[in-house]
Amino acid sequence: MGFQSRRISPSSGAEMTGIDLREPLDNNQFAAIRQAWNDADGLLVIRDQNISPEQHIAFSRRFGVLQRGEVSQGSLLSQYYLPRHPEIYRVSNKKKDGVPQGREDAGTYWHSDGSWKPAPPMASLLLAREIPPYGGDTMFADLYRAYETLSDRMKDILTPMRAVHSLAKAQETTSYGKDLVGQSNAVVDRYASHPIIRTHPETGRKSLFVNRGFTDNIEGLAPAESDAFLEFLFTHSSRPEILYRHQWRLHDLVIWDNRCTMHYAVADYKQAGDRYMHRTTVRGDAPF
Ligand code: SIN
Repeated sequence: MGFQSRRISPSSGAEMTGIDLREPLDNNQFAAIRQAWNDADGLLVIRDQNISPEQHIAFSRRFGVLQRGEVSQGSLLSQYYLPRHPEIYRVSNKKKDGVPQGREDAGTYWHSDGSWKPAPPMASLLLAREIPPYGGDTMFADLYRAYETLSDRMKDILTPMRAVHSLAKAQETTSYGKDLVGQSNAVVDRYASHPIIRTHPETGRKSLFVNRGFTDNIEGLAPAESDAFLEFLFTHSSRPEILYRHQWRLHDLVIWDNRCTMHYAVADYKQAGDRYMHRTTVRGDAPF
């Protein structure tokens, strides 16, 4: 299989063609994909993948262990996993006989998936199974560049700092947080403290690791200080100059690295048509 990859953005993003994930991939081929993903700063768009859920899961497993739909008891999110395939989370505005075919309005805020977990997911693979005629784009921010475009003095100030990411923040600010908690209060206290500057274990590069959806406060600062710092960092990390906006084509498979990108799903398409996506999520191996 001869793959071609080309850069599609000055910030994160490359497109790969000439690959058919219905066919087996040997280790060298997978290594080439993983290298292209790292070279593209953690955002790879693989075109034309009309693959089955089993093929999507099998390919995703090459990146690591997958999250399964084991969300908390009583959580409203459980219904969005694909029946018989708990590795696949469905994102959609579609309803069949009144039953939602996926989570509507998933990710309509800046976030890095599951950053409130002690070992947040390292990657997510989103497959477009149905797209509206226009709208429904996903925006990605390049968190390597967010770090690199800080002044040296600010890098020094941020280097020893840690921020708390919490589900409670998600619950306040996002409908995802509310659904994850659902009828149960069992998970409201889930949170994790992470360095604000993180080093990518594969590329060795540094990135800024905060997001408006889940980052609650900076440890050791007074609330007003923390809010002011975070507001600056949220704005800095979502500047247009470091964004790529993906306009989906049918059967695009987009792989993003949650360690060095964050994303925002633009919910502007509901009058235009149906959008139906399948997502797998690769677990992170350890706290960092
Ligand atoms: C997500 O945050 O996983 C949803 C992304 C999208 O639907 O574009």
